[in-house]
Amino acid sequence: MTGVGGVEPVGAEEDAVHQGGDDAVDDGLDVGNRFLTIIHLGLGRAATEPVTVGGVTIPAGVGVICMLSTANRDENLFTTDNGTAPTALDVTRDARRHVAFGYGTHQCLGQTLARVGLQTILTTLLHRLPTLRLAVPSAQLTYNENNIVYGLRALPVAW
Ligand code: HEM
Repeated sequence: MTGVGGVEPVGAEEDAVHQGGDDAVDDGLDVGNRFLTIIHLGLGRAATEPVTVGGVTIPAGVGVICMLSTANRDENLFTTDNGTAPTALDVTRDARRHVAFGYGTHQCLGQTLARVGLQTILTTLLHRLPTLRLAVPSAQLTYNENNIVYGLRALPVAW
């Protein structure tokens, strides 16, 4: 799976969070989770009965790879009212229906803890260091593209 295709959105998100404060952090968690989709490679599943998805029938017993990152680019769900494509980071987008924590029986058991932890960390950080900013141009940031867990290799900051 490829990455987010450039890092400008990270800079845009940083600006929006600084401007929007705590509410922007709450909304930004879903926006960021959808956009980055941390569990980045496919989840393996086997059909226990025939199932039709997008007009294609998967027979019972056949294995499939479910790409959360692709589902999080579903144009039917994530195209905004003003036509912004799912491939763009738009912090005003309603991203609540993302599947970055999975879906169904095996949906992440720790997602509430993860959300609370991230909200606490990010709001505390922004209150303590209100001038926090990237120390390098966002285009210089590099990502782990080939791990199952996606993320930055490093995030140089200044304040
Ligand atoms: C941002 C942080 C996190 C992300 C993006 C994430 C993502 C996911 C995803 C996509 C799955 C589904 C895997 C599948 O369907 O095969 C999952 C499952 C799971 N997660 Fe998380 N997770 C996060 C944090 C956590 C935390 C903090 C915990 C525990 C403290 C946790 C515990 C679990 C467990 C136990 C499962 C397996 C559930 C099952 O198979 O029934 N996760 N997670």
